[in-house]
Amino acid sequence: MPTAHRVLSAILAAADCAMVQTDLSGTILSWNPGAERLIGFAAGEVVGQSIACIIPADRRGELDDLMRRIGAGQSTDPFETEIRGKVRDAVAVTMAVASVTDPEGRPAGAVWTARDRMDAEQANAALRRSDARWQAIVESAVDAIILIDRRGVIESFNASAERMFGYRAGEVIGRNVTVLMPEPYASEHDQYMGRYLRTRERRIIGIGREVTARRKDGTTFPAHLSVGECHLNDEAKFTGIIRDLTERVSLEVRLREESGLVRIGELAAVLAHEVKNPLAAVSGAVQMLGDHLTSDEDREIVGEILRRLDGLGTLMTDLLLYARPPRPSPIDVDVGGLLRALVAFFQSDPAWHRLAVTIDGTDVRLAADPELLKVALQNLLLNAAQAMKGQGEVRVTVTAADGLVHLDVVDQGPGIPPDVREKLFTPFFTTKSRGTGLGLATVRRIAEAHRGQVTILESGRAGTTMRLTLPVSSHGPNWRSS
Ligand SMILES: Nc1ncnc2c1ncn2[C@@H]1O[C@H](COP(=O)(O)OP(=O)(O)OP(=O)(O)O)[C@@H](O)[C@H]1O
Ligand SMILES: [Mg+2]
Repeated sequence: MPTAHRVLSAILAAADCAMVQTDLSGTILSWNPGAERLIGFAAGEVVGQSIACIIPADRRGELDDLMRRIGAGQSTDPFETEIRGKVRDAVAVTMAVASVTDPEGRPAGAVWTARDRMDAEQANAALRRSDARWQAIVESAVDAIILIDRRGVIESFNASAERMFGYRAGEVIGRNVTVLMPEPYASEHDQYMGRYLRTRERRIIGIGREVTARRKDGTTFPAHLSVGECHLNDEAKFTGIIRDLTERVSLEVRLREESGLVRIGELAAVLAHEVKNPLAAVSGAVQMLGDHLTSDEDREIVGEILRRLDGLGTLMTDLLLYARPPRPSPIDVDVGGLLRALVAFFQSDPAWHRLAVTIDGTDVRLAADPELLKVALQNLLLNAAQAMKGQGEVRVTVTAADGLVHLDVVDQGPGIPPDVREKLFTPFFTTKSRGTGLGLATVRRIAEAHRGQVTILESGRAGTTMRLTLPVSSHGPNWRSS
């Protein structure tokens, strides 16, 4: 057999589609294994027969047309039709007919190829199913999943990414991924991508690390980013999987603070014993001495000593209040009554005379320890008054919803700068020359002992709103029975 023939036989044997050779009259000359598989007849059953034996009766017109084209030496593009199999009457196939010519270039016959359309349709459906499955996985993932191209342009943005960053997918697709990063990372990103594509030096791709991410509103959050590289249609793409670490990081900070608190607690107990009582004795003694003094100048000095001792006593009290874990004894508290009494007490102080305090929506009751609640509100009100330098309006708004009571203390002060915000609840953090920095740390402890919390609801140039949220009822794990 000439080489060309052997190659042809090998191709016919290996082809996974039906390939049938006919002469100009349509007589079958060869029938490959693919044809046996698809149509069901063995070569021995059909070679020498007319190709008409595999054409359904209702498609004879189509066959006549094909025979005419073969006679004219024409080939066809692939078309959809049906053939008659040994077992199945109609096998849906994609067929193409190629004209074969003799050495002089005259039409001599044809090669008929047919492929099972079911295979292609099933493959397409499987692909669609698999696409849909991937889509569902990506969309339901807890982590943000973002696909970018080699220039950093965002190509897809899943539902978690929308939640995490506050952008709708449509707003960021087509934009550079640097919109999701704060400076200086955003500026460094292009250089980084360029260097990676040039040198393949990995700093993050395939490794993952902790980064700072930026939301649509400009706020940032700690995140873990892992980046993978893939090739789609011969183009390098990068997938970023991002996990929001805010909660973990704040938990770590809290843990660090808590371990500090335990030490402060121990220290405070010692201080209380060693300092507070002698301080009271010293104060009493100085007062007695002062009573014997006659000159105004001397009395003034003693007065100053007493004020200083008083200040020290207050510091000790603050420290003790903060350091001893609060143990609330909840009773039914009329929030409005408590607030009014508190404000009246403050307003008896001349330092509050230029401050207007309004109380809104007070018809609320909740189960709380009134003494602790007073301490917490006192601290919030004092901070508000101090922020406004003793002048302006402080508003306290009480609202109840879903079993929670929100107590908002609104001031018209200068707002809390971002760097202060981070440390607001840290014990001993203060920006005031005469503050101990225990105020908000104490408020937080009291709130948490009541299963509540204290947050900055809003803070800007127009002022600050601090929110104390407490549950209405005292049934809960953090409550001690009273
Ligand atoms: N309403 C507010 N407006 C602006 N800044 C505030 C406000 N509340 C608190 N701060 C800032 O937070 C810091 C910490 O407050 P915190 O009440 O814990 O301590 P302090 O007021 O400084 O001292 P202390 O309350 O112990 O006397 C303050 O020093 C201040 O810088
Ligand atoms: Mg304070």
